[in-house]
Amino acid sequence: MNNAIRIHQYGGPEVLNLEPVEIGAPAAGEVRVRHTAIGLNFIDVYQRTGLYPLGDFPQTLGMEAAGVIETVGSDVADFAVGDRVAYAMSLGAYCNERLMGVEKLVKLPDGIEDRTAAAMMLQGMTARYLLKSSYPVQAGDSILVMAAAGGVGTLLCQWARHLGVTVIGCVGSPEKAQLAQQNGCHHTILYKEEDVAARVREITGGEGVAAAYDSVGQATLMASLDSLRPTGTFVSYGNASGPISDFNVGVLAQKGSLYLQRPTLATYIRNRELLNQCAGDLFDVVQSGAVKVRIGQTYPLAEVAQAHRDLEARKTTGATVLLP
Ligand SMILES: NC(=O)c1ccc[n+]([C@@H]2O[C@H](COP(=O)([O-])OP(=O)(O)OC[C@H]3O[C@@H](n4cnc5c(N)ncnc54)[C@H](OP(=O)(O)O)[C@@H]3O)[C@@H](O)[C@H]2O)c1
Repeated sequence: MNNAIRIHQYGGPEVLNLEPVEIGAPAAGEVRVRHTAIGLNFIDVYQRTGLYPLGDFPQTLGMEAAGVIETVGSDVADFAVGDRVAYAMSLGAYCNERLMGVEKLVKLPDGIEDRTAAAMMLQGMTARYLLKSSYPVQAGDSILVMAAAGGVGTLLCQWARHLGVTVIGCVGSPEKAQLAQQNGCHHTILYKEEDVAARVREITGGEGVAAAYDSVGQATLMASLDSLRPTGTFVSYGNASGPISDFNVGVLAQKGSLYLQRPTLATYIRNRELLNQCAGDLFDVVQSGAVKVRIGQTYPLAEVAQAHRDLEARKTTGATVLLP
């Protein structure tokens, strides 16, 4: 029997229920995928709490996984039974097996293990569009990265350093500072204790950074804006501390004609061509060894509620993988 982690209402980790679910045969354009590893992401928390509303209940949470194709429906040309595949941004990943359309699937190269794929597809493709599209970094730039020891953070910082960028990472503890330095950061700032903007000015010789990649949201908004050089770019791509609301755009003028983007990965992988390009770039930097995927912790899928608690309590580092 296939088991899935479903919710019947928004709420805390206690709303996550392990339930048997029938899945049947794939329809036209669909395949049945048996998961071998599932990625945990902060977006799962936003969807569980209702910050990012879902459709009708019940809903199976989870946006990312790796596995093997077990059955193929009609009208599926590019995928076959036995293919190793992975995906991101497709709701319903917290389960042993699922049916899904092939639009979001990519085949895994031999050099990428399933757990690595489940750990990196969503966070790694995010790092890629942040560095190449949101603000396309150039060698010699300095950037600021919030939550630098987290899932996206460790990939983003390594990739940026690989591109010749000076990386300043903000982290919540001295242990995380050490980890961030092992994963791309040239400098770290303890943002719960230090004056972030003052430290950034000190590190950059008064200039400020070209871009601030901020996934923390409400708590770090002003620290990010105050750390930017004139015409710098503030990329607000997450809300770990709560969403930014009532933002006065006039502040962008006062602080040096700044740019602001609020992006989502969904936009950057919205068609097959973009998805292949994004995933292909990620596979290249990981297979070359330029970016290493750091799985900080794993949990049995049945213990996903504890994984959510730990993620929200800032206890995790790097990526988290759930094992079905
Ligand atoms: N827009 C997109 O396309 C996109 C895609 C992927 C992820 N994201 C966003 O990127 C962020 C990182 O995602 P992730 O899955 O890799 O998670 P993560 O960074 O591994 O975990 C979140 C981290 O945020 C920091 N944090 C700061 N204030 C926090 C608070 N009040 N509560 C909880 N954590 C807090 C913590 O690190 P410290 O202890 O070091 O502060 C925590 O470990 C999330 O905000 C996520 O929504 C956005």
